[in-house]
Amino acid sequence: MNQERSDTLVLFGATGDLAHKKIFPALYAMVAKGTLTEPVIGVAFDAWDLKQLEARARDGIVKAIGKIDEKIFAKLASLLRYVSGDYRSAATFEKLKNALGTAQHPLHYLAVPPTMFETVIQGLEQSGAAQGARLMVEKPFGHDLQSARWLNRVLHLVFDEQSIFRIDHYLGKEAIQNLLYFRFANSFLEPIWNRNFVESVQITMAEDFGVEGRGRFYDEVGCIRDVIENHLLNILLLLAMEPPVGRSADDLIDEKVQVLRAIRTLTKDDVVRGQFKGYLSEPGVAPNSPVETFAAVRFFVDTWRWQDVPFFIRAGKSMPVHATEVIVRLKRPPLDVFDPIKLGDANYVRFRIDPQVAISIGAQRKAAGDDMIGEQVELTALDDSKGDMPPYERLIGDAMNGNGQLFTRQDASELAWRIVGPVLGDTTPPQLYEPGTWGPADAMAGFGPPNGWINPAK
Ligand code: BG6
Repeated sequence: MNQERSDTLVLFGATGDLAHKKIFPALYAMVAKGTLTEPVIGVAFDAWDLKQLEARARDGIVKAIGKIDEKIFAKLASLLRYVSGDYRSAATFEKLKNALGTAQHPLHYLAVPPTMFETVIQGLEQSGAAQGARLMVEKPFGHDLQSARWLNRVLHLVFDEQSIFRIDHYLGKEAIQNLLYFRFANSFLEPIWNRNFVESVQITMAEDFGVEGRGRFYDEVGCIRDVIENHLLNILLLLAMEPPVGRSADDLIDEKVQVLRAIRTLTKDDVVRGQFKGYLSEPGVAPNSPVETFAAVRFFVDTWRWQDVPFFIRAGKSMPVHATEVIVRLKRPPLDVFDPIKLGDANYVRFRIDPQVAISIGAQRKAAGDDMIGEQVELTALDDSKGDMPPYERLIGDAMNGNGQLFTRQDASELAWRIVGPVLGDTTPPQLYEPGTWGPADAMAGFGPPNGWINPAK
């Protein structure tokens, strides 16, 4: 296995949307901090020259952070190279091989659709550019279990598992890392973090916008494949996993995989699907598309710790707010000593993931006045987000250093598809909902955690 830091970053899809919006701003931040000094070779089909790529990178960075520091940008530009060509042509990879020069351990980052993975990997192998290299691949990693297995086979023909980095950018978020830290760096949670005290878990990812010009992509994917099978299921794993036995990447991933193995395969009764009114008029969306833009899903984790505790995940476009939150609701006290505690007003832990990072504990206290009447309060630790590292910056740095802890291992990539498999590709029309609401109200009536959903605030 290759232990060295990668000595060149090769970015396939360098002229694409992801590179523009996320990757160039991340590279700029790395250069600013001095954590990227290696050459960056952009590769794409467009017959651009280096100046055009630089201009595109500049535009992406300005849009992401506002003002650019010319000195830092000049440093980034000095690292940039560009190779243009068709991924199906050996000549493109010959040019890449030349551009790599004496590099021994490049990191090849495939920011291209999975349909291109095989072609690019073959090109890398045939040109010798795969030798001593690492591979980083973007989501979506397949569209079902079969395609994920096939992709894994394609990757393994050329790269060993330790050299493969499957991205889920949620794992690079500060708040998500904090979930893990908070759980295992505090002793007060552990005694209650189980079926004896936890009534339910709910995870909500609400976006107050539609598909934003990504209609064609989204219509092939839908909400379950886009964010539930990967980002939100990963949050569930961090909440449900046992403490890892060590700090290595495999120690952590092994525990997540144990949870994946214990999650019951979904059935149609575990899912409510919705589509916002107006979705069908989005460019790129098929007429009468049955694709869901909202889904609420119930999971069960069949372990001693979690037996019978429902884990609900709800995600949607065109919701009333833009926020991602987790609520771990505890059971009510066994007896009301004072006033009756309202159903749903039990203790809970709230993890706010986006847009702010916060951890709160929901509790009851006595309201001011003569009577022993309570009120709900929250004890909150609010993060000012200072010093947060954006996910792409963290993940590119980790992959260059060969640290796989925040990436998806092969077994996990396949198990997640096994769980959602039976509810994918449903062609029955989803229930419609008004944009700006919490999904299809009729279908959602009675579907959710006991004592109801808690909608995140703005
Ligand atoms: C992407 C999905 O993976 O994650 C998008 O394709 C979604 O549909 C996005 O909007 C959300 O990411 P973030 O980091 O903005 O919460």
